[in-house]
Amino acid sequence: MNSEKKYDIDALLEEVVTLPSLPHTLANITELINKPDCSLVEVAKIIAVDPSLAIKTLRLVNSAYYGVGQEVTTIEHAVVLLGLKVIRNLALTATVFDTLKSGAERYLRHSIACGVAMRVLAENGPLASHVGSADEAFVYGLLHDVGKVILAEGLAEPYARTPDIMRERRLSWYQAEQEVIGVDHAQVGGALARNWKLSPLIAHGIAGHHDLRHCDPDMRKIAATLCVADYLCSAAGIASHDHPVFHISDETWTFAAIDKESLPAVIKTFFQSFPLIEELVRVAA
Ligand SMILES: [Fe+2]
Ligand SMILES: [Fe+2]
Repeated sequence: MNSEKKYDIDALLEEVVTLPSLPHTLANITELINKPDCSLVEVAKIIAVDPSLAIKTLRLVNSAYYGVGQEVTTIEHAVVLLGLKVIRNLALTATVFDTLKSGAERYLRHSIACGVAMRVLAENGPLASHVGSADEAFVYGLLHDVGKVILAEGLAEPYARTPDIMRERRLSWYQAEQEVIGVDHAQVGGALARNWKLSPLIAHGIAGHHDLRHCDPDMRKIAATLCVADYLCSAAGIASHDHPVFHISDETWTFAAIDKESLPAVIKTFFQSFPLIEELVRVAA
């Protein structure tokens, strides 16, 4: 029996859950990058004075994910090598790692795997015209389930009942969340992206990744592709919870517009990326 109060997303954010604020360093980087006269040296300085971000940035730059082919030991060198847009995504990645780290490790691994799956989908065509780069697509996947960590922290007791409700009623995880709380983690993650002033594409994509009605009709392609990337992870055994019940609707496949012929190559490349996923989990931990 469920006697808990149910919320809509606005009431939840007003009454119960406090979204993590965007760290100052990342806000400063974003502000600086948006200025026409932004200099690489200034961005490097901002990162360098934040020791935790600086260390994570260097570890990421030297990981196989970026594959720069030389050892990078200073932030300034990293910024020059990767350019401003990539460095901004990288700083965001390092920040999200810290947010996800407070949740269970399987959330982190699943989120990174979904990021890698999105990168593979972007590199293999279907997403290319919708996101700025494969690197940006990675961030979308990395963030897609951040709402689970926020709900698990903000509503620990009712949220802990989600797996039981899912099993008892043979629901998907997000449907069980809606049963228990009234909203799902996708809506909460979308709210976080808005709060952090990330692009509308990422905020809507995350909000609608399980239910396309929760995002703007123009953004459904990205939400549907996130759903497919999520499915690839679950099918590969990198789910964020046990016994995932997963169904992709015909509508979602249509919006994702993934060419069925390219799917085997996507799956093969994704499976070949497993060592990269593990490396990123080590970097994030
Ligand atoms: Fe999800
Ligand atoms: Fe997921």
